[in-house]
Amino acid sequence: MKVKMTVARELKTGDIDRRIYGSFIEHLGRAVYGGIFEPTHPTADSDGFRTDVIKLVNELNVPIVRYPGGNFVSGYNWEDGVGPVEKRPKKLDLAWGTTEPNTFGTNEFMKWCRKAGTDAMMAVNLGTRGAEEARNLVEYMNHPGGSYWSDLRRSHGYENPWGVKLWCLGNEMDGRWQMGAKTAVEYGRLANETSKLMKWTDGSIETVLCGSSSRNSPTFGEWEAQSLELAYDNIDYVSLHQYYENRSGDTPSFLAKTLELEEFIYSVICVCDYIKAKKRTKKTINLSFDEWNVWYHSDNVPYERWSQAPPRLEDIYNFEDALLIGSMLITLLRHADRIKVACLAQLVNVIAPIFTENAGGAFKQTIFYPFEHLSNYGRGYAIKPIIDCPKYDCKEFTDVPYIESIATLDEENGELVIFAVNKSSDDAAELDVNLLDFEGYEPVEYISMDGYGKNEVNGFDASPVKPHNNPLPKRDGAALNIHIEPFSWSVIRLKK
Ligand code: AHR
Repeated sequence: MKVKMTVARELKTGDIDRRIYGSFIEHLGRAVYGGIFEPTHPTADSDGFRTDVIKLVNELNVPIVRYPGGNFVSGYNWEDGVGPVEKRPKKLDLAWGTTEPNTFGTNEFMKWCRKAGTDAMMAVNLGTRGAEEARNLVEYMNHPGGSYWSDLRRSHGYENPWGVKLWCLGNEMDGRWQMGAKTAVEYGRLANETSKLMKWTDGSIETVLCGSSSRNSPTFGEWEAQSLELAYDNIDYVSLHQYYENRSGDTPSFLAKTLELEEFIYSVICVCDYIKAKKRTKKTINLSFDEWNVWYHSDNVPYERWSQAPPRLEDIYNFEDALLIGSMLITLLRHADRIKVACLAQLVNVIAPIFTENAGGAFKQTIFYPFEHLSNYGRGYAIKPIIDCPKYDCKEFTDVPYIESIATLDEENGELVIFAVNKSSDDAAELDVNLLDFEGYEPVEYISMDGYGKNEVNGFDASPVKPHNNPLPKRDGAALNIHIEPFSWSVIRLKK
């Protein structure tokens, strides 16, 4: 197929906030225990952190990690996870039906973040708890000293405050599966008061209001409007969560989910701006897409109730999932002007790009690579190319462009990168890219993932699905001609 594309600085959509490449660690399954923390593992450091996992997290270049949940946080007493480990209680986690040993808590997580070179995005419990416990946690983590909670932190061996800047006001509070689920009005008032007290404790923090747990939530739209109306002045972001699945094996519809994602993002922006207009305020609320991924492969895998860290949500991702993950991240970048934070849910073992074996090795799932490429090369600002390409109809959508693409421009380092997914299973694409005003930018690398069956996966024994390098595309004046294989992920880097 022939594809015409125009890339120009004027097509800038927004500056890329690095936090759009965030991820998520929840006390769930083997994300913490056996994932990032396993003191008896051969690669564990003196804090019990798996250094093989830290190495992979570094490759992903994740700037921020949300913690400790997820559904888990809505029943969590953060005080259970600080202080001498031998005194910490074991508690039942009602969200996931397991026992939480609390041998890993807030300070261990912060230490892990420092070692992994990432920042924390903390979530507070607004399910079974409220403003008091949330503001105490901010005091414990961020206040230098001379108060009860900050001195408690110091007595636990952490003299310096952690200085966490970004805080989630609960998790999916509209969901009936959530401990302490609320109506939009109950939640909006609680979130407002909680955020107010947290910010009075530390004026430098930003907070995220829970949006709907997904676009399919029955109260979607109305939930955002009502809770925003009540909390607008005291919060900074509203959250979005979305997972996709392909249970019917309908790949064309699965890969077209980004059309739905696009609408979801657009609707939330509209609701934010509707409340802005109603309030006649200059303050703009931005978006935190703090859970997104493919999630369905591991459904119905049995586990032992009340056991500690059993395997849960251990999806093994195939090649088509990698293509959707690339397409989803491209879609988020198209809204770089409003999406300032996003978290691939999650980071290790639990619906994650990194998979480990307890006491054993670790491998990169298929979805690792598009995320790694965007996180490492998608810098500066996002450019939404004009794309003229053939479209397809499928069961769930019509007029789906075969090519999904975004360009990013890092003026400082003189690097222009084009990311593209070809959703056609049979047709290669000849991309005729018109580069406006990019004199001196020459192709230096062409990475792609292609030639794999849609169900191909990686594993401990063999990891066939990975990127490879291609001959550089030719640049002739303003025209850049790129051959893109069918059913593929491509990254074309140009340097000045
Ligand atoms: O990421 C897994 C779960 O998905 C989270 O705990 C919850 O917030 C969402 O429903």
